[in-house]
Amino acid sequence: SSSESTIGPGWRRIHLDEVGSTNDEARRLASEGAAHGTVVTAEHQTAGRGRQGRSWVVPAGQALTASIVVRGGGPLLPLAAAVAVAETAGSEARIKWPNDVLLPVGERLGKVAGVLAEGRPAEGWAVVGIGLNVAVELAALPPEVAATAATLGRSPAERDAVLDELTRQLDVALGLDPATLRERWSSRDALRGQQVRWEAPAAGDTGSGVAEGIDDDGRLRVRTDDGALRTLDAGDVHLVRG
Ligand code: BTN
Repeated sequence: SSSESTIGPGWRRIHLDEVGSTNDEARRLASEGAAHGTVVTAEHQTAGRGRQGRSWVVPAGQALTASIVVRGGGPLLPLAAAVAVAETAGSEARIKWPNDVLLPVGERLGKVAGVLAEGRPAEGWAVVGIGLNVAVELAALPPEVAATAATLGRSPAERDAVLDELTRQLDVALGLDPATLRERWSSRDALRGQQVRWEAPAAGDTGSGVAEGIDDDGRLRVRTDDGALRTLDAGDVHLVRG
């Protein structure tokens, strides 16, 4: 079943009990002309998708699973989404390039949210899909998943309030000029100064070096082990370590 409600001014929410992927549903609506600020949420996704063709699996009812139609977003939209999610997750949240959001869990950082931004630039729309661990019981996850995850540690009922805050923060982030947006992103950069290793499957390219922040277009700058500067595009590359 599905229900419609408004969140704040300019937002329209469609909530589904169960769907394959909220991103697919939001993309369908966007291609049919859905307005900026249309939000698809689901209690449970049966085929949730992550970046780089990975699947995204969370226990039903424990995460905020939302896909937002954005019109006129521009190339920095994936970074804006990460900033908005990080602001929602609190002052301790860090961003792992391009847009994983991390929180401290004891001595380590764990992933509390992932962002999957997909769009049709020529048609002027994009969908920002956000999976945010609001009330995920880490102890009940498979150990290898729990080892790298984090949760806000709130209750399932608070997911609506978190979505409210997230849409407010997305409004703010989308209104920032590019330089300020990059600054906000950079102030939470989890990788700066860290050793990273990447793979670009299509180009058959791998390498490693030290992360030096992002360039004007949101690509990751890496000082490679032989001293050269490489810029990595999130569309081509995934980080194996870092
Ligand atoms: C990643 O870290 O790889 C991105 C994960 C994005 C998951 C969200 S959940 C809501 C939306 N619907 C999907 O199928 N994926 C995104």
